[in-house]
Amino acid sequence: MTTKPEVTDPNWWRQAAVYQIYPRSFADDNGDGVGDLNGIMSRVEYLARLGIDAVWLSPFYPSALVDGGYDVDDYRDVDPSIGTLEQFDALVAALHERAIKVIVDIVPNHSSNRHAWFRDALAARPGSAARDRYIFRDGTGPNGDEPPADWQSFFGGPAWTRVPDGQWYLHLFTREQPDWNWDNPEVRDDFLRTVRFWGDRGVDGFRVDVAHLLTKDLPAELPSWADLMAGLAPDHTTWPRGQHPIWDRDDVDEIYREWRTVFDTYSPPLTAVAEAWVAPDRRVRYASSTGLGQAFNFDLLEAAWDPSRFRRIIRDNLTLAHDSGASSTWVFSNHDVVRHATRFALPAGTTAAAWMLAGSDPSVENRGLGLRRARAATLLALALPGSMYLYQGEELGLPEVSDIPDTDKQDPAFFRDPGATAGRDGCRVPLPWTATGPSFGFGPGAPHLPQPEWFRAYAVEVEAADTDSTLSFYRRALDLRRELQTDEALEWLEYVDPVLAFRRPGDWVSITNFGSSSVPLPTGRVLVSSSRSGTQSLPPDTLLADTTVWLQIDAIDAGA
Ligand code: BGC
Repeated sequence: MTTKPEVTDPNWWRQAAVYQIYPRSFADDNGDGVGDLNGIMSRVEYLARLGIDAVWLSPFYPSALVDGGYDVDDYRDVDPSIGTLEQFDALVAALHERAIKVIVDIVPNHSSNRHAWFRDALAARPGSAARDRYIFRDGTGPNGDEPPADWQSFFGGPAWTRVPDGQWYLHLFTREQPDWNWDNPEVRDDFLRTVRFWGDRGVDGFRVDVAHLLTKDLPAELPSWADLMAGLAPDHTTWPRGQHPIWDRDDVDEIYREWRTVFDTYSPPLTAVAEAWVAPDRRVRYASSTGLGQAFNFDLLEAAWDPSRFRRIIRDNLTLAHDSGASSTWVFSNHDVVRHATRFALPAGTTAAAWMLAGSDPSVENRGLGLRRARAATLLALALPGSMYLYQGEELGLPEVSDIPDTDKQDPAFFRDPGATAGRDGCRVPLPWTATGPSFGFGPGAPHLPQPEWFRAYAVEVEAADTDSTLSFYRRALDLRRELQTDEALEWLEYVDPVLAFRRPGDWVSITNFGSSSVPLPTGRVLVSSSRSGTQSLPPDTLLADTTVWLQIDAIDAGA
């Protein structure tokens, strides 16, 4: 394997392929059943061979794992079960050696209740400086026994929890995740310190968790939860009395402007991508060059397999990205959603979440179809201008593990809101690396979430040996993408439903057949195809159902 030079281009992120690693489920070196930094280190060659430009590491910080590590005890350390800061440094160096950038997750809306400052807040008096770093309120009712408001946590149950002296604190997620008070300058300074801490250790950027929730303006008389939620409909922007009290407030810009100043002290500047669940046209503020620089666009992740929907989403997001000066982002899977190979395997009109909740009847899951469409969707998105965010395991074509026994589940969303969701564990099952051996090569011990028997067929060693596998397909597509991506132009080609086609600079074309029967394919050299038969055995002039191909073309008839 040759070593590639480190990339210093300040625009490296604009069309990067970023691979999300969920560290606890990637590779386990020490055998405790939980993935770790040394496990990732042992797979650096795998990452290099995959052809990605960056990895994004989900939280690896000290944590009680109430919410998979998104409950952070200490933002500037590594959880002992995952490794040490020295191992982190070694991993960054090894990845950089192979020209792979490193993005880490930063969780600024809430800490964990084990964070030193939350412990201080509990030990301090109501009204004290220590309490002011979080959001404490007196209760309502005769003895303050009632919560300050009827707000609900996003994982179910009340969003206010009482402490022994009678006050209540706000947590929009679990009670172990108290919300920070971003009006407090110490909180702001501490996050700047965290940004510098990781910047100085060599990371290249950040993924910013729930970036739209940080600032809050809570009136003395708190609105009801129903009012708050109604204020988000239909597009997350309407609030009858001006700014919404907790969602996507304008004053969040100040925070990211400050962060940007710090990012720009590095060379190349640090990058950031916002996870902001806001209406598409509200993403611009997070993606602006004076803010975080890029924002996730989850529109394709939420879209059904429908060419006009895909086209509208792509068109709108390219425009929005252009308006913000950023590049767009494309995502089909991450650690919070049902894997796209499974979403596309379900009949039209069946949402994956509802199917899982109803017991995930296998007779309605068409895995062959799901994988075909997932591969076609991925190849289409890889052809687009912008960054592609890939989630570990999708390069193996892994379906969701939809039947994890309740007793093995870990996701608080499942436990806090019984009956509302099957939870997110099914996309977090440790990866299969080998067809045999304990935990299919994930590590020497039993994995922290059970792997199904069928995982063996998706093991890296099995797929690496098969030129027709999903892994080989991802490698081919990612390699080619690197060669082919030049500037960010895209020209639509006017095909009729169910085909979607566009040309990129360099006279190559991505063409997707969303239909269930073959369509004619224009003449050209097939560079890569998402269909399992590879490029060789494809009839030369046929585009199979549920397939994307990239074609090198000299001249294409745009009206074909
Ligand atoms: C993360 C989730 C997490 C939540 C609370 C989300 O955006 O992606 O995994 O549960 O934030 O931190």
